[in-house]
Amino acid sequence: MAAESKRGFFLTFEGLDGSGKTTQIKRLTAWLAEQELPHVTTRQPGGTATGDRIRNLLLDSKSAHLAPHTELAMMFADRAQAIHEVIDPALAAGQIVVCDRFTDSTEAYQGGGRELGSEIVLELHRLICGNLQPDLTILLLPDLTASLKRARKRNTREKTSNGGDESRFENEQNPFFERVYEKYLEIAAREPERVVVIDGDLSIDRVHQQVINAVAARLGPFDQWQARHKTSA
Ligand code: TMP
Repeated sequence: MAAESKRGFFLTFEGLDGSGKTTQIKRLTAWLAEQELPHVTTRQPGGTATGDRIRNLLLDSKSAHLAPHTELAMMFADRAQAIHEVIDPALAAGQIVVCDRFTDSTEAYQGGGRELGSEIVLELHRLICGNLQPDLTILLLPDLTASLKRARKRNTREKTSNGGDESRFENEQNPFFERVYEKYLEIAAREPERVVVIDGDLSIDRVHQQVINAVAARLGPFDQWQARHKTSA
């Protein structure tokens, strides 16, 4: 686990497929670089060599009939590897870790969408992930229908441009995503200190501004982060 004295900052992004997370993470990363704030960006599932292989298995529509508990266990296998290889070392080195999805996604998608419930997810998180909690979670919540339309369009593009197929979740029907959405709302209501909800239907610039405001408010004075950046450069 990360050393307390030099612990970095753990920031996660959450939201439905097509919520604009990728764009916002790119914008935030550019801003962090401009401010000379030391950071690493990663994503789940994926972000390590093993995790990328697990991601292919999980997201490819050819992985049909995965049992919900298999899916759940694979999400945690991926996460354990990411914590071990990327997240813990970066936090211990005093960096800001920006992670595209974390255990809230498992609670929303497997707990809510697949109807496994929150309890098993939170228990596995305690057992497998040492109950590692983000310092801040940005939850982007655009209108459900618009968000799904964007996600389905995006996957059509991905298939035609590089032959890849990451559409297993996006092929789910609307009631699945309604349950995911509801579970996200439940998590935000349960942990209002950690989870900042941003209306994903605002313009990209306005969402970006709100993301920066939330991050800057939690990071504290920038000079201490910038000093770390200089020593690690
Ligand atoms: P993304 O990388 O485009 O966000 O897609 C990842 C997909 O995997 C997305 O549909 C959400 C899903 N997912 C889960 O179902 N459970 C999880 O724990 C994580 C991290 C992702």
